[in-house]
Amino acid sequence: MIIKPNNLEYSFITPNETSDFVASTINIFNQSYPKFLVHGIWEDPDSLVLFEIFPEFQFGLVETATQRMIAQANCLPLAWESRFDELPEEGCDWALVKGFEDREQNRKPHALCLVSISILPEYQGKNLSPYMIGYMKELAQSHGLSSLIMAARPSLKSLYPLTAIERYITWKDKKGLLFDPWLRVNIKQGAKIAGICFKSTTISDTISGWEDRVGMYFPETGDYIIPKGLVPLKIDYPNNMGIYIEPNVWLYYDLS
Ligand SMILES: CC(C)(COP(=O)(O)OP(=O)(O)OC[C@H]1O[C@@H](n2cnc3c(N)ncnc32)[C@H](O)[C@@H]1OP(=O)(O)O)[C@@H](O)C(=O)NCCC(=O)NCCS
Repeated sequence: MIIKPNNLEYSFITPNETSDFVASTINIFNQSYPKFLVHGIWEDPDSLVLFEIFPEFQFGLVETATQRMIAQANCLPLAWESRFDELPEEGCDWALVKGFEDREQNRKPHALCLVSISILPEYQGKNLSPYMIGYMKELAQSHGLSSLIMAARPSLKSLYPLTAIERYITWKDKKGLLFDPWLRVNIKQGAKIAGICFKSTTISDTISGWEDRVGMYFPETGDYIIPKGLVPLKIDYPNNMGIYIEPNVWLYYDLS
């Protein structure tokens, strides 16, 4: 499928169409997300089970002129028949476990859940994300799934790590539009806010592990604002532990 925003040409690509799909995905992911968020299944490229178990729900965007993959998205189907405002607090962490469990138990999925989407920094702000959302909606529908859901990471929340997320998501810009660009683009595409998942991504590590992840020194117990963190990191010396609990926003597209 080819798209032509601003007269530039891009095409969607799936894992079986190129041998370096996984490497390109990881490259884009690593350049777009903060290093400290690389955890769990993202940490070990050899065990990227999403690509093995759900290859049909992974895709990239290739710039025709350079043949370079410049954006990627990872999704997985899951069973969810309850109300969207009852989606769990554990957001992204929950979705990753649930999708695999549902597959193992042969449960019929109802929703396509986006677990990661990123665009190379130099290609951000070029209005490519609405096309990626459109692609995901079609992907969901072509597999008989009646919704697209995501625990969204608001793009600019990291500039306001001390603001409660429930306040942040109500902010409007000077034109009266939703302030956060990633939430705004989704709402424009038809998404609805289902609620906040306060514990969407939890990352625990030793204090030296966190110093390596973030590139900062944490000399004593306390809360620290970290670059690109949506909330402060909690450092606990007696337990040699740092814990970061990222809140996200549950969004849903009802495709039924
Ligand atoms: C989230 C992401 C995929 C969105 O893509 P994008 O290229 O930034 O988005 P678009 O160019 O489509 O822009 C969407 C909106 O944000 C605005 N925007 C883009 N970059 C912006 C910036 N740095 N500051 C303010 N607004 C910005 C655009 O003007 C547009 O708003 P509009 O439609 O009202 O004009 C991209 O920012 C990204 O890769 N982020 C890092 C990974 C991440 O956090 N992913 C989300 C996980 S849920």
